[in-house]
Amino acid sequence: FLNSTNTGEWTTYLEQAGLAELNTRNILLALGSMPIIAIVLNVISQLLPADPSKPPLVFHWLPFVGSAVQYGMDPLTFFAENQRKFGNVFTFVLFGRKVTVCLGPQGNNFVLGGKSTVFNAEDAYQHLTAPIFGDDVVYAIPNEKFMEQKKFVKWALNTDAFRSYAGLIEHEATEFLNHDSNYKAYQSGKTDEWGTVDALEMLAELTILTAARTLQGKEIRSRMDKTFAHTLSDLDGGFVPINFLFRNLPLPHNWRRDAAHKKISQFYVDIIKRRRENRRDDEAEYDIVNALRDQKYRGGDPVTDSEVGHMLIALLMAGQHTSMSTGSWTLLHIAADPELGEKLFAEQVQHFRRPDGTWNPITYDETKDLPLLDAVIRETLRIHPPIHSILRHVRDNVPVPQSLSAPSENGTYVIPKGYYVLASPAMSQTDATVWDRPFEFDYTRWTDNTGFAAQALNEYTDESGEKIDFGFGAVSKGTNSPYQPFGAGRHRCIGEQFAYLQLSTIISKFLQELELRMDTPVPRNNYQTMIATPDSPRMIRYRRRTPAN
Ligand code: HEM
Repeated sequence: FLNSTNTGEWTTYLEQAGLAELNTRNILLALGSMPIIAIVLNVISQLLPADPSKPPLVFHWLPFVGSAVQYGMDPLTFFAENQRKFGNVFTFVLFGRKVTVCLGPQGNNFVLGGKSTVFNAEDAYQHLTAPIFGDDVVYAIPNEKFMEQKKFVKWALNTDAFRSYAGLIEHEATEFLNHDSNYKAYQSGKTDEWGTVDALEMLAELTILTAARTLQGKEIRSRMDKTFAHTLSDLDGGFVPINFLFRNLPLPHNWRRDAAHKKISQFYVDIIKRRRENRRDDEAEYDIVNALRDQKYRGGDPVTDSEVGHMLIALLMAGQHTSMSTGSWTLLHIAADPELGEKLFAEQVQHFRRPDGTWNPITYDETKDLPLLDAVIRETLRIHPPIHSILRHVRDNVPVPQSLSAPSENGTYVIPKGYYVLASPAMSQTDATVWDRPFEFDYTRWTDNTGFAAQALNEYTDESGEKIDFGFGAVSKGTNSPYQPFGAGRHRCIGEQFAYLQLSTIISKFLQELELRMDTPVPRNNYQTMIATPDSPRMIRYRRRTPAN
């Protein structure tokens, strides 16, 4: 009504009401000043004495937005600054949500070792993941059912499967080097010609190609054309931090995400249906599709076609950003340190090179016996874990254990129901009380053990080797460890071994074929992508190795 043309009537009404001064201009002024009032009230509320049973709150000027900008730009600096002020437990506001950060190995233990009925992952992640994966898998369903789905997938990721995957991954990497337009300098056959590639973009493509060929099977890989790649990229566009909080904001990336989800689901369901109807897998090797399709839930229910399709989407997506980021960081560190590159090359020669200079096939068993490459990947994951924050929604008031935080004036802190808790393996992996020179990339700490503050590490290492089965097979407890790039507890990653195989094989092939260099320093972490990635510039120079060097 502020735009009403009938201002005379409106003014008369105000006069009658004794509010003659309150004209449109003043109303606009009043509305305009509301944000200022909200900011002032927000600041005052933080200056008033706080409830001592709640963890301390990080000061923020803007209501609702809270500390989203500082956290989003550089979460680790944000955590470190507040850890200095408050210790290991503090709360910040993230777009209207209260998030209690629990740092250090004890913080990891508290959050990742918590019961799912109290610290719940579904509530925290489903806005983000359900529209991408589907409404009948992962975080869109009760935890017990998801744990069964994890078991099905884990079963399909077995040693026999890995043995067959090594050759497939090597084949995709070789084809990539031989045909991708970024590798013209390699394809020319000359050994004195340097080319350049963007480390992250290259790994993005290789990760999806190798994961598709292995985790999706031959038939699906062969049907993945450019249109499929575009659809997948639209689906992937739904992985943006804001979708953690709001599932369906009317934004183009969400519309594209939803259309892509429909298309990809249908693509999988059609394949599965055809295989069911034919009752023969004449086009397919026995692949993960069959393996998932043949599973049954504990109560005897079969896995539906839609669930198989959606699990396949989830598998592809869960490994994509994490593996591509890790692979690109690993190559960047190798390119930045030619001496390391030569040592790694020597390891390849020792394991795979034939006397005539050609290479033996890369096998799963041999990838597990490359200690130097293993140490480099481990160190990469220590210093650049792709997942820097692990979130859970708090379903019940939870007291903070004293081992994590000193008691407040009124006893221990209690994290209220409705909050979120956050653990950050990235923080514990660079904790100076555990690691010597925590921010230095030093792969030798994994080969000679001198880079740990050894005593501190032993304190946290689970000597008992305690194993727990959360429904997807026994895993070591590990929630106490300061090194958790793959998480721990109930939600622990089941893709670790696959990721190691994928990364070791791709990087081995690159080491065998290419010398790598970099003209710029190793880039900084870019935290604005949801999974931390190397910032630009991240160009790697390469040249073809001569058969004899
Ligand atoms: C869970 C990291 C690759 C599938 C996780 C979690 C982390 C993680 C930190 C725990 C999340 C949480 O507790 O909220 C990584 C890293 C990878 C990688 C660093 C590569 C370097 C993969 C791959 C797959 C995969 C290749 C699939 C083949 C999963 C699944 C979960 C998971 C199914 C379980 C989620 C849950 O139970 O809530 N991953 N991951 N990951 N990851 Fe991975």
